[in-house]
Amino acid sequence: MKVTVVGAGAVGATCADNIARASLCEELVLLDIKQGLAEGKAMDMMQTAALLGFETKITGITNDYSKTAGSDVVLITSGIPRKPGMTREELIGINAGIVKGVTQNILQHSPNAVIIIISNPMDTMTYLALTSSGLPKNRVIGMGGILDSSRFKYYLSQAIPASPNELHGVVIGGHGDTTMIPLTRLATYQGTPVSSYVSAEVLKKVAADTMVGGATLTGLIGTSAWYAPGASGADLVKAIVRNEKRLLPCCVLLEGEYGQKDICLGVPVIVGKNGWEKIVDFNLNDEEKALFNKSADAVRTMNNILSSL
Ligand code: LAC
Repeated sequence: MKVTVVGAGAVGATCADNIARASLCEELVLLDIKQGLAEGKAMDMMQTAALLGFETKITGITNDYSKTAGSDVVLITSGIPRKPGMTREELIGINAGIVKGVTQNILQHSPNAVIIIISNPMDTMTYLALTSSGLPKNRVIGMGGILDSSRFKYYLSQAIPASPNELHGVVIGGHGDTTMIPLTRLATYQGTPVSSYVSAEVLKKVAADTMVGGATLTGLIGTSAWYAPGASGADLVKAIVRNEKRLLPCCVLLEGEYGQKDICLGVPVIVGKNGWEKIVDFNLNDEEKALFNKSADAVRTMNNILSSL
């Protein structure tokens, strides 16, 4: 197995670090446009191999896509991150050109790769990568829901309190401060509804905190977060390279599922070696359906900007 991570910034490097630590592939390429950055971070990570015991070989590359040839999975993290006070949507102008170019370069050398989009605004970048490349829909996946769901479990774990590992909870919809939909009604603590442990009011706060989880960190750190985004990207890679057929919330093309079409949005999907294989219907109630449609409207408005760039 060969995996490429494009973008050796904090998120890309953390993805690579997590992928290597779990020995998810034999070969891992980290590529960046900035001279020496990927080489340096790859070398730094390789110098942890003897300490951590992993077998993945990480190579850092400056802009030479021929070195990514034959990748099975490619994560695109390139683009500018948000600063405090910025929304993910404000990044569209710069990041659209970058993501489109990177996708083309990647496919020239790895025509069969599954492409994971992490760059923001993630839902629109996923739609752009899919429509501009003409790839089969199953091979383009936006990673937002896995991160948002992990943040949801974090906030739930604080509220109950419980271990995050004993919680199940899924966030669907867009990966935006106002477009995320934490499904509190379906969240469970060891199989029991979380509503048995916390009031409706607390659950509302958990959902609200989850939605601005990224913005909270951007405010604290001064730039966008990387530990959880990097670990989430690696978790998605694991589901693909190990053909796990796991149910994960991911941003994929909808063609009528969840009442929407011609849009990439977060829904529960089965993930395996071919990318996402099937959308799972969670039977949303009317309130959740309304939120999903509202989220789709906002993401569609963002997608429409692509044609004017
Ligand atoms: C976040 C960015 C990576 O949510 O979208 O932290």
